[in-house]
Amino acid sequence: MRILSGIQPSGRLHLGRYFGAVRQFIELQEAANECFYFIANYHGLTSILDKQKLEEITRHLAVEYLAMGIDPKRSVFFMQSDVPQVTELAWFLNCVCPVSLMEKATSYKDKIAKGIPPNMGLFDYPVLQAADIVIYDADLVPVGGDQKQHIEMTRDLAGKFNVAFDDEVLVIPESYIVPDVASVPGIDGQKMSASYGNTIDIFETAKKTKKRCAQIVTDSTPLEEPKDPDTCTIFALLKLFVDEAEAEDIAGKYRAGGYGYGHAKGRLAELINERFAEARENYAKLEADPDYVSDILAEGGRKAREAAEKTMQRVREAAGILRTH
Ligand code: TRP
Repeated sequence: MRILSGIQPSGRLHLGRYFGAVRQFIELQEAANECFYFIANYHGLTSILDKQKLEEITRHLAVEYLAMGIDPKRSVFFMQSDVPQVTELAWFLNCVCPVSLMEKATSYKDKIAKGIPPNMGLFDYPVLQAADIVIYDADLVPVGGDQKQHIEMTRDLAGKFNVAFDDEVLVIPESYIVPDVASVPGIDGQKMSASYGNTIDIFETAKKTKKRCAQIVTDSTPLEEPKDPDTCTIFALLKLFVDEAEAEDIAGKYRAGGYGYGHAKGRLAELINERFAEARENYAKLEADPDYVSDILAEGGRKAREAAEKTMQRVREAAGILRTH
């Protein structure tokens, strides 16, 4: 089974991305799959037109993912821009993509509503994403719930390409979304997202994490009164870290009264700090060895280009695009 996923550089790694995607990346890699994971910096360019910022986020992301446990011995880990063939494939897919299909993209509308300028790259974003996926003959794409439509579009475009050229050139992928954690709330109770400024970042000091948890917005029920765990953002986050028995126990304390939001916040910070202690240590080591990180990306890029070029030979041939080399 070939697994593939990309991660757009948009900010530091946070809990939403961890539970929605990264955790699955690591699990899938353990189960003897062939995994391709990459940093989607061409996608980053659709909304970050700032050389320094894009470079910095790309580098941080590489270190963060390796620190989280992406294992370059088991997964091909690389930067999208090390495989320029992917932009070439996007062109082929553009030519079988109805404009009306892109007009249905909810992520495009959301981004514009948030004030990102509607450039053609942003509009064409799902086509580039489709190219990312099919260029490696991916079978399964683990993603957060917000990416479901993009994967459906990928299936649609790969199918249209195969139909147009009367051939089975491209593999049609499936999405893989973990349902109960598809949406993780941020400190304001909305979906956790870098663009809402409501994230709890993973690579922070224990002290900063505690401070951040203290900022989670709650209602003003006094400490001694009973509280409803099911409408509480802190509880929603706690549940991601504890087993069912502890979740029940905490829910009981909420309902009984005498348990304050401050207690819950303290417990949450503790759990976050414990869960990511090792990753934070790895991060510090990797940060101190940038050449090691570059070597991993270079090697991943080489393997990814090799796989991509094979697909592109089939694609060019099928579509009648001639080349002299
Ligand atoms: N759009 C994805 C996101 O925002 C990132 C991405 C780019 C991706 N290319 C991909 C995800 C290919 C899966 C497969 O998270």
